[in-house]
Amino acid sequence: MVETKAAWKRIVARAIAEYIKEKGSPVQAPAPESVVLERPPKPELGDFGFPMFPYAKLLRAAPAQVAAALAAIVARDPEAARLGAALPEGPYLNVRLARGPEAAAVLAAAASASWGRTGSLAGKRVLVEFSSPNTNKPLHLGHLRNNVLGESLSRILGAAGAELRKVNHINDRGIHICKSMLAYERYGEGRTPAQEGLKGDHFVGKYYVLFNKLKEEDPKAEEKAQAMLLAWEQGDPAVRALWQKMKDWVMEGIKETYARTGVSFTLYDFESDTYDLGKREVLRGLESGVFFRQEDGAVSVKLEDVGLDTKVLLRKDGTSIYITQDIGTAIARHEDWPYDRLVYVVGNEQKYHFQVLFEILKRLGFGWASDLHHLAYGMVNLPSGRMKTREGTVVDADDLVDEVAALAAKEIEAKGREGAVGDLAAVAEKIALGALHYYLLQTSPMKDILYDPELSLSFTGDTGPYIQYMGARASSIIRKHEGGEGNAAKGKAEPALLGSDADWALISRLAAFPEAVDAAAAGLEPSALAGYLHDLAADFGTWYRDNPVLANPDANLAASRLELVRAVRRTFEAGMGLACIPFLESM
Ligand code: ARG
Repeated sequence: MVETKAAWKRIVARAIAEYIKEKGSPVQAPAPESVVLERPPKPELGDFGFPMFPYAKLLRAAPAQVAAALAAIVARDPEAARLGAALPEGPYLNVRLARGPEAAAVLAAAASASWGRTGSLAGKRVLVEFSSPNTNKPLHLGHLRNNVLGESLSRILGAAGAELRKVNHINDRGIHICKSMLAYERYGEGRTPAQEGLKGDHFVGKYYVLFNKLKEEDPKAEEKAQAMLLAWEQGDPAVRALWQKMKDWVMEGIKETYARTGVSFTLYDFESDTYDLGKREVLRGLESGVFFRQEDGAVSVKLEDVGLDTKVLLRKDGTSIYITQDIGTAIARHEDWPYDRLVYVVGNEQKYHFQVLFEILKRLGFGWASDLHHLAYGMVNLPSGRMKTREGTVVDADDLVDEVAALAAKEIEAKGREGAVGDLAAVAEKIALGALHYYLLQTSPMKDILYDPELSLSFTGDTGPYIQYMGARASSIIRKHEGGEGNAAKGKAEPALLGSDADWALISRLAAFPEAVDAAAAGLEPSALAGYLHDLAADFGTWYRDNPVLANPDANLAASRLELVRAVRRTFEAGMGLACIPFLESM
């Protein structure tokens, strides 16, 4: 565990200081935090090891000689004696932990309410902007990847102790919005989503698609859309009223999808409120000479010196563009809530946009520009011919979740588990979300994904349901015990009994949970946590196959292993929560 490692770094730093004194050397001993700790290539070598090379160089001695000398000093250290033993192995000082105390510490930590809450980002403010859809159609498959990346990252950052703002920047203005409005005026006949039995976002999306038909019927359709946008900008009451009505429909539908998939936000920013924010900043930059006015009147910035192109920031008619409002929004957000980090979860096709944005903010003199981060992600594709797509659009998020849930229900029925799982539809939905979310998180964000629903649902292998299944196995052992089965109730739990290599391997995995959270938080990488959950599932699977828990004839060992199972279950629950994989009692 983190505390154990910190303790050993202190012990080794102390030993080095002692060794330096013994040698009468004038060099400075290292600070405990700077002592490098590694995991040995084979578990037989120890639980962790310290490479001696830097100290050998410092002390002009052979690494093996330093390792041997430090081992002798550590052997006299009372703190070390309680925690384990240090043995020289060539140029390394390897540590074998005292298993009993470490097992006791891990089980106690896992039982506490703060298990997995690390505090490594305590006092840091992080704003995560994600999802950010447009209000002319429903969420699609790509949004599912965005949403789970943003939601999981936020939960991980929160577990690391960061103060969070999850912001959804909704694009609710522009020509595409006017197109769905025009088509609704033409074909909608005043109908509502409720009358058609459609979710509001699907209803409006239908009219967005119908704009194609309108274009065929009316050669002036595009022009009319432009005119409508102008009327919107001028605040035309009728246009604004229709816009508000359709936007409310879409937002209601999209929020249903968020609720269904477990995604939430601290606040929603609407582009209709923010699109003008950047203008003032651009004009200021023009005054201070960061930007320049082109001959045609547009305001631009030259970025060739950093390998980017000249970028227009305000059109010649003075209207703002996509980047103008991102400039304004970043500044306004920082004024409102000074953040230590702002993470934009946006597809990798916008990589260039964010490079330009960050460079511009830097040139405007904002020191915090270096705290901005674009968490870019690749495409999600389906095997060709897999799912029918709506005319002219990509696969809807709701349809996909429906389809995966239906497959999961079929799978439960095929296994004859309907009775065991309880509410079939609810469990199928949770398995579907586990399958989908794990599949989308497990791959590192920049890679494209080919999403295969059947593969993602497999109960074995590198899948969400495999993790859910192992969590359910742990639950089932605890339930059986509570139902009076087995020997654990007759014994007394003694962590010191969990000293076999098999028990130890599982305990070491549990001990690494807080580190996995910290690594995922520091690297903005939920995939690291997903990988940890898979490893935990695999370790638990092996362990419980080979090591009887409740049926163990030694009642004290049964009781001790039951405690280990409880710790496993707690870790699954906490970790799966961070990865947006629903925990299941049985499946
Ligand atoms: N609404 C945009 C789209 O669908 C994404 C917005 C990304 N966020 C931002 N601050 N530029 O492409």
